[in-house]
Amino acid sequence: MSRDDLVNTNKAIVKQVTEEVVKYSPNSILIIVSNPLDAMCHVAYKFSGFPKHRVIGMAGILDSARMSCFLAEALDVSSRISTRSCSAGTEIQWCPLPRYSTCAGIPIPELLPKGQDRVR
Ligand SMILES: NC(=O)c1ccc[n+]([C@@H]2O[C@H](COP(=O)([O-])OP(=O)(O)OC[C@H]3O[C@@H](n4cnc5c(N)ncnc54)[C@H](O)[C@@H]3O)[C@@H](O)[C@H]2O)c1
Repeated sequence: MSRDDLVNTNKAIVKQVTEEVVKYSPNSILIIVSNPLDAMCHVAYKFSGFPKHRVIGMAGILDSARMSCFLAEALDVSSRISTRSCSAGTEIQWCPLPRYSTCAGIPIPELLPKGQDRVR
């Protein structure tokens, strides 16, 4: 299913789950993961009635963590490698920025073998 196909299915699920969470944990903070993320954050925000600082979406940080992991594997270093990435909407549109990603302050393209433009 595409993110667009998921909207109505996941809207109903997120609405229902949000209402249950609010009923049993009225002081909680909601961290939304379900896709499409921005839309589902709004669903949780709307049906929880929580203030905006208690409804948080988790998305791009996962892609950055994946990028760190693959680069650490390719460079044989700790996965605490520093990376930057740009995420726009879906992983299909996700765009890694290797020139702005560093390991111990060194840009990633300078560390990878010449001509290697794919880590995995
Ligand atoms: N934001 C991100 O970085 C990110 C990453 C991975 C997945 N996702 C999204 O997270 C969501 C879950 O992904 P997944 O891979 O864990 O899917 P999954 O299919 O493995 O798990 C979904 C779970 O939801 C349960 N479920 C279904 N309908 C329900 C309902 N009405 N009430 C309560 N539980 C219900 C199912 O039983 C299942 O256990 C998807 O929307 C996916 O697109 C987001």
